[in-house]
This record gives sequence, C-alpha cells and structure tokens, in this order.
Amino acid sequence: MNKKTVKDIDVQGKRALVRVDFNVPLSSKDPADTITVTDDTRIMAALPTLNYLLENGAALILCSHLGRPKSPEDTHLRMDPVAARLSDILGRPVTKLDEVVGESVTAAVADMQPGDIILLENTRFEAGEKKNNPELAQALADLADIFVGDAFGTAHRAHASTEGAAKAIQAKGGAAVAGFLLGKEIDALGRAISAPPKPYVAIMGGAKISDKIQVIDNLLAIADRVLIGGGMANTFFKAQGLEIGTSLCEDEAVPQAKKLMEEFGDQIFLPVDVRVADGFAADANYKDVAINEIPADMMALDIGPATIEAFAGLLSDAKLVIWNGPMGVTEFPAFANGTEGIGKMLAGQVDSGTEVIIGGGDSAAAVKKLGLAEKMSHVSTGGGASLELLEGKPLPGIVVLDDK
Ligand code: 3PG
Repeated sequence: MNKKTVKDIDVQGKRALVRVDFNVPLSSKDPADTITVTDDTRIMAALPTLNYLLENGAALILCSHLGRPKSPEDTHLRMDPVAARLSDILGRPVTKLDEVVGESVTAAVADMQPGDIILLENTRFEAGEKKNNPELAQALADLADIFVGDAFGTAHRAHASTEGAAKAIQAKGGAAVAGFLLGKEIDALGRAISAPPKPYVAIMGGAKISDKIQVIDNLLAIADRVLIGGGMANTFFKAQGLEIGTSLCEDEAVPQAKKLMEEFGDQIFLPVDVRVADGFAADANYKDVAINEIPADMMALDIGPATIEAFAGLLSDAKLVIWNGPMGVTEFPAFANGTEGIGKMLAGQVDSGTEVIIGGGDSAAAVKKLGLAEKMSHVSTGGGASLELLEGKPLPGIVVLDDK
C-alpha cells in the first residue's frame, strides 16, 4: 500500500480523530428496548489500530455512522451500545458524547489526556455528513491533530467524516494516515485485482448480475477461472437458452450474460445441477436436477451436489481464491447446502496453502454463520466498499490519505 499508516507518524501526545466503521448489527429498532450489539466483528477489526494508538500515547476521538438514520430522531441508532461494547472489549472507559460536533464535544476534547477515548454520536445524525459538508468536516478537524482512516467498510463514501475531515486536517498541516484494518483490506483485496498468484479462481454468487457485472468483468481479465453460482447463474442459464422455470432472472441482463459467455466461455464455469423448489419458502418441496431439467413450475434456490463437486475440482489447484456472494438462499437451511459446501471446501484449502479471500457482505456473513471465518485468510469487513475496490474504482476514503 502506498499510503502512510499510523506507524509512519509520531502519535505521542496527539489527539487522533479516528474514522472507524462501527456500523454494526443491533438487537432492536425499538428505542424503548435495551439495545445491544449483536455482532462485534467490525469493532474487533478496529482493535489493532486503537490499541497501537493507545499504547503509543495518543488520545482517541472515535467517529462512525450507524445504520441509515433519517434524522437524530432515530434514537435507536445512537452510538451508546457501541460505546458499551467497545469499553467491555478494551477493559477501559469509553466516553460516549451525545453530539457529533458542538460545545459538549469541544469541551470534552479540550480535557483529553493520552489514553483517553471519546466516541462521538452517530455521524449521520448531522445532515452535513453524507453531503461532505465543509463546515462539518472543519468542525471535526478542529477537534484533533491527526486523522486516522480505518473505516474500510465506508471508504467508498466521500462523506464529511471519511474524506472531508481528513482534507481539513491536512489543510492545517496535520497528518491523515491509514489504520491497520484499512491496510490489511487494501493488501488482500488488492492482490485479487493486481498480480495475483496463479492459478487464481474467483467464485461469484448472489442474486443479481447487475450488482456485480463490473466486478465479474474485471475478474475475468485477471482470474484463470470464474465460477458462477447463486441467483445470478439463472440469468446465464437463460442466456444459453435453458428453461429456468420460475427462477429469479434479470431479463435485462441476459444480453450481457450472453456476451460474457461468448467472450470468456472457457473461463466461466456455471453450475451443472441446481436444487429446485416449488416455492420461495423454507419448507418448500425440493429436489436436485441437472440444469437442463429445471421444471417449468419450479425455481432454482441453490446449486446442487454435482456442482459442489465440480467446483471442488476447479478450485483444487488454486493458489488464490476470492469468493463474493452466496451460492443459494442461505436463510433457508435446505438451500444453504451449496454455500456451506463451498465454505467448508475453501476452509480446507487454506489448510493446504491456498490463500482464500472472502468479500464482505453476504458471503462474509455466511462464513461467519458456518463458524469458518477464522479459518479463511481474509474476510473483508466491507460490503459495498469491497465490491467497488474489486471493480477497480478509487475509494475516496483511501485516496484522501497521505501518500508514502
Ligand atoms: C456498510 O455496512 O456497508 C458500510 O458501513 C456502509 O454503510 P452504507 O451503505 O449505509 O453507507
């Protein structure tokens, strides 16, 4: 990575504005409930940076968005549960403030000593956050000496707390550097799009091709094989003239799928069988059929056992694998088989020396649910951000940071 990190600057005695991605799942949307964090993966992922800064004498002003609030009236999205969880994990006090900027924040920050930790209120409670409003960015920058960008999951957003505040700190002569999580994500996902070790195999899944067409295009230019599963496979089946019954299909993307098959047919591998159901339901009746035998009144909800085996063969010699998107409807156990099979197989490959990178979002959630996250070489904490990085797009939250 060509960006400076916290290790490249002196943080001793500095107040660091640290943009983290603490957009974590919560136990309830009802403010009357006691709301807790139900998955602290993103908090844990920020710890190396936070601990480094604390051990090296910085005072931390942490900021993050949480969910997509329409206004501060969405009180169920206050940062208090996050502060409580972070404090538990770190075993030290975390002062949660009720404003993002303002008098209470300025006063609290003025008294900070090295080792102190403040967590600001949800940055999206400020209307200027998503607009990258310069006044909000300046007010955030006024709080600190240095900016640390560690919110990989939000690095694709040019918001006041991800980009504007970094620029404003640079404008007053302060450093804006990357945290360790950001560095780790860029290194891992960066390997998947530039000079990957070979053979390199990409596995793409999820419902829609349209969400990932740019990623598929990019990966086809660099990967030896691209295996396609999940709902998006149906669009490829249709492009080949197969009967897909009542399966989900993006008709408008059929020509694109057809073009990809014509251009990269020897690199693209589709399922050979699918698990079809008589309805979109957990208790639907199902059976496994070859892809040219999908009944007109049934829908494909998962890849079939022969596909899991075929994909295993195509993955067996890989030095690098990237996986993005589930193979089926994982919320229904009967249709989680393909995702589970692929997940277990990949975990086994890591043991035999393959580097396996899991893109964020649904595939990360799936490996976590299977208890396999720890086994993988890298599980991205970014959903949209990891896709945009794989598309080859510059991410504003990274671009803004100081170059080495
Ligand atoms: C995410 O969860 O993908 C990030 O935190 C970004 O959230 P957003 O899509 O609401 O900007």
